[in-house]
Amino acid sequence: MKFSGELPPDQKEALAAQIAQLDFKKIPQWIERYVKNEGSIAFPDHFDPAPSYPPQPKTAEQAEKYKKAYQLGEELIAAGKVAGFVVAGGQGTRLGFDGPKGDYPISPVKKKTLFHLFAENLLAASTKYGTTIPWYIMTSPLNHGETIEIFEAAGYYGLGKENVFIFQQGTLPNFDFDGNILMAAKDAIATSPDGHGGSLKALYKSGAIADMKHRGIEYISYFQVDNPLVRLIDPLFIGLHVMDKAEMSSKALIKADPLEKVGNFCLVDGKVTVIEYSDLPDEAAYRTNADGSLAFELGSIAIHLISVSFVEKLNEGGGFALPIHRAVKKIPHIDENGNPIEPEQPNGVKLETFVFDALPMAEHSVILQTLREEEFAPVKNATGVDSAEVTRQMMIDRAAAWLEQAGVNVPRKPDGTPDCVLEIAPSFALTPEDLKAKLDRIPTINPGDKIYLG
Ligand code: UTP
Repeated sequence: MKFSGELPPDQKEALAAQIAQLDFKKIPQWIERYVKNEGSIAFPDHFDPAPSYPPQPKTAEQAEKYKKAYQLGEELIAAGKVAGFVVAGGQGTRLGFDGPKGDYPISPVKKKTLFHLFAENLLAASTKYGTTIPWYIMTSPLNHGETIEIFEAAGYYGLGKENVFIFQQGTLPNFDFDGNILMAAKDAIATSPDGHGGSLKALYKSGAIADMKHRGIEYISYFQVDNPLVRLIDPLFIGLHVMDKAEMSSKALIKADPLEKVGNFCLVDGKVTVIEYSDLPDEAAYRTNADGSLAFELGSIAIHLISVSFVEKLNEGGGFALPIHRAVKKIPHIDENGNPIEPEQPNGVKLETFVFDALPMAEHSVILQTLREEEFAPVKNATGVDSAEVTRQMMIDRAAAWLEQAGVNVPRKPDGTPDCVLEIAPSFALTPEDLKAKLDRIPTINPGDKIYLG
């Protein structure tokens, strides 16, 4: 504010517009609860493990249900009732890539980007089911312009511009530890995207939901921009969600260890609820069942199916809000003299919301287990755990497993890892079954080969 007097009219106007966007009713509470204090979400007195569907049916009755669900899912996809939705508004600070994370080149042979792979996935599923699956993409002010440029330059990856709906999420102001709103520049408040939970509001506010209704879309396949293994359009997941009349459903993994850093699916007052790894008491994390498995074994991997009607229901009336989470961060800003500061230590608080906090608001919710090696390889870090290198290797490993399932011989090293670099384009196969129909197009794979099936 201090500098507003010295700003030219257009910058003054931009600042005033930014201020007008602030939620003055809520800010004082946020400062008290989350900025000056480490307020956290009320922890439930009692919680149980959440029930889930296993990756493969375990009984004859379940097998029958899976079969029906798969068929129903396929019918709904073919009838044009399903859309893809990626949340891509994050800052990607850990990866440190210059540009939107979706533009990160990830595929093992062709170095296709994440956006490119997702687009090919949707195109392939559209072709397979004789329909057009539109794609909704949430960005943030940090990367909206660049994302549009990427899609323009790529010709919307062949999806047709009219089938790609790119919209921005909201932002929240950044604070110093005393509760003052930080300024990014003389004419701008420091803000950050309001978390992936912001998607549930932004879908509605942006007109994406209206667009979906216009197209007859009823189910939204939600995924994150960092996971190239995600099975974008999954008939079984869709079918189970619809058969069980769920409003928001999730895929889960069996955790690799009791303290794995993923949210835990629990049941609180009969509602599926995610309890963060940092909040789950050790006693619960290590608790085991009679067979030795973890009592709280289901980890959240940010793959959801969301009914369009659920997003509408949440937003109608205007009062919908997800719980706020606080994150202590290094926040660049200007000081009282207008000098830019690049802090070396965390200097303030960012606020965000998480999409899984909407799960308990759903009347019903399904959890379907999936396998890590089949569906979860997020690119988060520059090196080490969850790095691009690990993801790429998992893409090769999955391709090798699919080829072997289809009866193709894959050379392996003594330690069991594939002795070749493999890439299966989504247009070539979306599932191992698709490969079986194309065996005549798969060459002999020799040790050290680089093979692209596209
Ligand atoms: P992450 O939690 O990995 O955060 O986001 P991030 O911002 O991408 O990366 P870091 O933590 O700065 O390294 C998980 C998913 O949620 C999206 C991200 O784009 C990613 O797909 N996301 C996150 C949003 O769309 N908006 C947000 O405000 C936050």
